[in-house]
Amino acid sequence: MVEQTLSIIKPDSVRGQNIGNIVSLYEQAGLTVNNMKMLKLTQAQAESFYAIHSERPFFNDLVSFMISGPVVAIELEGDNAVLKHREIMGATNPAEADEGTIRKLYGASIDNNAVHGSDSLENAKIEIEFFFAS
Ligand code: CMP
Repeated sequence: MVEQTLSIIKPDSVRGQNIGNIVSLYEQAGLTVNNMKMLKLTQAQAESFYAIHSERPFFNDLVSFMISGPVVAIELEGDNAVLKHREIMGATNPAEADEGTIRKLYGASIDNNAVHGSDSLENAKIEIEFFFAS
């Protein structure tokens, strides 16, 4: 099934000059860039985007990190895009990510883990709307 999913290239990857490398990995995997936007999230936007984690101990650090510099939000499309993107990203913790995945290649730690990706089709719709509502 053709699906859409959301990627966020996080501030560590932007600082590390890895935007192009990451977009290349998506395209090489057969995912199409439908929409792309560079922006600096406000604290309120980051808190809202990650509201599901608001009770977690890492929430404040996560929000601080996500507003520490610009991010690139990308709407990706392709067959089975949600799962395919999760496979290309690798495990949340780069130390546990498979060789060749984005987080293994470009993530430094569970906090600085290079990219975000939607975890389900339902959340993908919500997250795409968050960045690309028309
Ligand atoms: P992301 O996919 O953007 O979703 C929430 C983020 O919280 C996650 O990637 C990690 O960067 C960060 N995080 C920090 N600690 C944890 C943890 N223990 N479990 C899950 N996510 C964490």
